[in-house]
Amino acid sequence: MHEIEETRYFQSIAWTDSIDSTNRRLVQSVRDGSIKLPALLVTDSQTCGVGRGSNQWWSPTGCLMFSMAIPIGPSPIDPSNPSTSISSDLLPLRVGCAVAECLEEFTTVRPLVKWPNDVYIAGRKVSGVLIEVIPRRLERSSVAVIGVGINCRVDFRDAPEHIQANATSVHETAKKEVVASISTESVLVAFVHLWLDLLHRQTSKPNWLLEHWPEWSLLDGKWIEVKHSAGLVQGLCLGINESGAILIQNERLEVIQLLAGTVLSYRPLQS
Ligand code: BTN
Repeated sequence: MHEIEETRYFQSIAWTDSIDSTNRRLVQSVRDGSIKLPALLVTDSQTCGVGRGSNQWWSPTGCLMFSMAIPIGPSPIDPSNPSTSISSDLLPLRVGCAVAECLEEFTTVRPLVKWPNDVYIAGRKVSGVLIEVIPRRLERSSVAVIGVGINCRVDFRDAPEHIQANATSVHETAKKEVVASISTESVLVAFVHLWLDLLHRQTSKPNWLLEHWPEWSLLDGKWIEVKHSAGLVQGLCLGINESGAILIQNERLEVIQLLAGTVLSYRPLQS
């Protein structure tokens, strides 16, 4: 934690043994104005971890679970300024890329982002992200509560079947020289440094994410099936547009843009 305090980015930092959900708790604290921002809340165990949509997040020992509450604002981003805020542009995708890039230092296989922000290693999910935006009427601004779960050193033997079949943990594909050092704490420190770097990049290289997305995307060039509010779309994933919408070319060669949705499946194109 000392290394995170030293960055002086977060105005409040807490690490609890157990909690219902770090997101739920931070959303509450933002709503009742009882916490200084940016805030970081980490836990070793969650009794009611929340996932995207109607999902729950299985929260075993060895899973890093944290939420950050950060004001969203138009002000210039300056990571050396503790009151810094973030832009909401492409935020979900930026969080996914930050997780993937931070995990790359530990793994032999490149982590990839499954739009919008799940992170996969060798075809299995290693991390999920849940972002909730809380409007603050008095300040005429909003706060993003960004919840991240990363399986760092997880034993899946007690996991539900669908998780055993589809999930992985960082230590399973770790580089030999770092495997012993992988812990929820070391991964969190790596993430926070990467996050600050990404905030900095947002001002120094505003197009960084759009230019580099293809290198981090699990889905580009694959045949995908996406569920969205009005139904299902199947087609070739062409990437994203400048708003972060996923671009899918269907069988009639029309290009569909979806700003929100759930990718149900993906497979390489048949040759
Ligand atoms: C998903 O993959 O559906 C998103 C999962 C997000 C899980 C994290 S764990 C920390 C934070 N607290 C929660 O209750 N959820 C997020």
